[in-house]
Formats: sequence, C-alpha cells, structure tokens
Amino acid sequence: QNEIYGKGSLMGILPSVTTDPRLLEGQARKALGERSFNYVAGGAGEKATMDSNRLAFRQWKLLPRMLRSMDHQDVSVKLFGQKYNSPLLMAPVGVQGIFHEDKETGLAEVCEEVGVPYIMSTAATSTIEEVAAASNNGHRWYQLYWPHDDEITLSLLQRAKAAGFTVLVVTLDTWSLGWRPADLDKGYVPFIKGVGCQVGFSDPVFRKKFEDNHGCKIEEDIVGASQAWLNQIAAGGAHTWEELALLRKNWDGPIVLKGIQHVEDANKALEYGCNGIVVSNHGGRQVDGAIGSLDVLPEIVDAVGEQMTVLFDSGVRTGVDIIKALALGAKAVLVGRPVIYGFGIGGRDGAKQVLKGLLADLWQSMGLAGIRTVADCDRTVIRRVQHGG
Ligand code: FNR
Repeated sequence: QNEIYGKGSLMGILPSVTTDPRLLEGQARKALGERSFNYVAGGAGEKATMDSNRLAFRQWKLLPRMLRSMDHQDVSVKLFGQKYNSPLLMAPVGVQGIFHEDKETGLAEVCEEVGVPYIMSTAATSTIEEVAAASNNGHRWYQLYWPHDDEITLSLLQRAKAAGFTVLVVTLDTWSLGWRPADLDKGYVPFIKGVGCQVGFSDPVFRKKFEDNHGCKIEEDIVGASQAWLNQIAAGGAHTWEELALLRKNWDGPIVLKGIQHVEDANKALEYGCNGIVVSNHGGRQVDGAIGSLDVLPEIVDAVGEQMTVLFDSGVRTGVDIIKALALGAKAVLVGRPVIYGFGIGGRDGAKQVLKGLLADLWQSMGLAGIRTVADCDRTVIRRVQHGG
C-alpha cells in the first residue's frame, strides 16, 4: 500500500494496469485477442452463476470498528501446518501461454516474488518440471485434472511430488468442459492443437501409451494426441468417491477437493480422507444457474470447518471480498480471472501489480475495519442485509 500510494500514481507514475476491478476487464479485452479474452472472461450458459457469485458478495456488509490498535496487524495464515504470508492463493488456471508469452513459468515466478502460493493446472502450457525450476523456492501446489488411466494419474502424482509440489488439489467439477457459448460460437477449445497439453505430452507414461496405440510419435499427430490427452482429463465419465482411495494411497501430502458446493459432498470429502476442500463453482464456468459460491460457504463451514481446511473461490475481486470470505469461515481464498487479466495486459509485471494491489487492498481494508488478524476475521465483523447493492 505504501509502495502504491508512495511511488505510484501520487508520484505521477500511472500504473500500467488499473487497480479498479471493473476497469481491469476492459483493459484486458483490448490487450488480449478476442478468443483468448472470451476464454478467460466467459462463463457457462447465460453467465447467471457468474452474476450470482458477485451478488452473493454484495449481500454481506462489514461492520467497521474504531480506535483499535493495528500495531501488530498480521494477515498470515497457516494451512496444513505451513505458514503463508497472506490468505491469498493463485487459482489454477489452464493454458496461461495463450494470455502471455511469459506463460506458467513467468506467473509462478511472480507468485514466488509476491509470496502467494501458485497452484499449477494440469492443463498448463509449461511442464511440471519447468514450473518447478522457474519457482524453485516458491510455495507450489499441484492441481490435478484426474486422468481416466490410473497409470497416467500415478505418473503425474509422482512427477509433482518429485518436483516439490506440496498440496494436491483435485478438481472435480470439470470432468467434461462446460457449455460456454462464447467459446462454442467461435469453435474455440485451446487444447485442440496441443495448447495446454504440455503436461501430458511430457509425461512418459502418456507418451508411451499414445505411441503404442497409434503407431506414431506425438509430434507426428499433434491433433490426435491432443484429443487423447483431453479424453484423459476433461472429456468423459466422472470418477467416483470410492476411487479417491487411489489418490489417498499415492499422495502422502494434503489432498484438497476443488469444486465442492454441497454440504453432503463436503461431508463425503471428510469421510474419504481428504484434508481440505475448495468451495468453488469454477468461477461460473461449468454449471450455469448454480448457486453463488459464497452463498453456500457458511453452511459448508458449519458442517466440516472444524475438521478440515475450507478454502474458497469464485467471484473474489477486491480485498474486501477476501475479508468477507474469511469472515464466513474460509481459511484462505483463491483468485483467478483478475490476475489473468493483469497477466494478459502486462505479463509478469501486470500480474504482479494485480496481486500486490489485492494484497494492499486487503491490508488497508482490514486495518480500517478494525480487524487485526485473519483469526479476528470472523462472523462478528459482517452482517447480511436484505437489499443488495
Ligand atoms: C480456470 N479454472 C481452472 N480450475 C482448475 O482447477 N483447473 C484449471 O485448469 C482451470 N482453468 C481455468 C481457466 C480459466 C481461463 C479460468 C478463468 C478459470 C477455475 C479457477 O481455478 C477458479 O476456480 C476460478 O477462476 C475462480 O473464479 P474467479 O476468481 O475467476 O472469479
């Protein structure tokens, strides 16, 4: 915050990326080509769930407190026994190479610099090993799109573990792509020509199986190999709760299930030995008409919050949004689109500005609301109101 007010616009140097979340999208629209912009900004159906995600935040209001010492303000959190500087994590976002040539390796590097854990997607345009090398000392979590072939799954887990990724985030809501009109109308799926297939193509088990089955090298049939990889991770039948045993047996670190929106599923996550969940509707990209993610957070926290780590995403745009999700019981918050907009506009620098802006906003808003630590951020600091706005 001091840096921004001190060295930023007040010193006559206008930031290249806006700090206004509503303007950010407009800037990104200009910077990214139409297809890439639609891919990141788009949602399922008529975007009703995307709207609900934002409306859910508007129904909660902070109750600021005065004359409280902020001398030892602290936004650090502990997740799975590890201390992190802030309650903000970079959400797993696929195909980062279509937004900027700095791709995953660049964004992971920025996250390390800013002190935000980077959750790497299975649909990345960099390999697991490249991301690890680019952000050797950063906190890195690995997001799994769960392949149908167990041998490929085990190979990915083994690679992620060997590369120093600590937490496994298993995304459950994208076993098939969502109905996204903006992409469908342009016939756009990034994966078709090998984009976002780097994790698969660099996997020795996937490679061997493809070559044995097709009698040619991946490089000789990129379109076929892309389809084969997509079939593994996001086109076909869903896994079942019982199958989680395979992941539990082969990953000794924390396992977090991403895409939970129902109390019963949160209970099941606990029952099947998971350590955490992300209450998320994938930023409204999967099931349109689904409930706003923040609307289900309190009941899920009430059900399992004492026994497992509940994280949150979908619709977070400001520091105050982060406070609201924490107040409703999330232990930390993932943010997706805003960082990708900054990244699309200015690569590493743009992403850094959005991340630092969010952290500064969080720090300042918490202080002004009289909330000293994340632990103090509980349900006493907010109230639900009937009107939105
Ligand atoms: C995503 N998301 C996502 N999630 C995941 O588990 N694996 C992935 O590869 C992707 N890819 C992806 C691409 C793009 C372009 C977007 C916008 C999102 C979902 C992401 O992790 C997160 O749940 C949402 O982005 C959160 O909502 P907000 O912050 O974008 O509103």
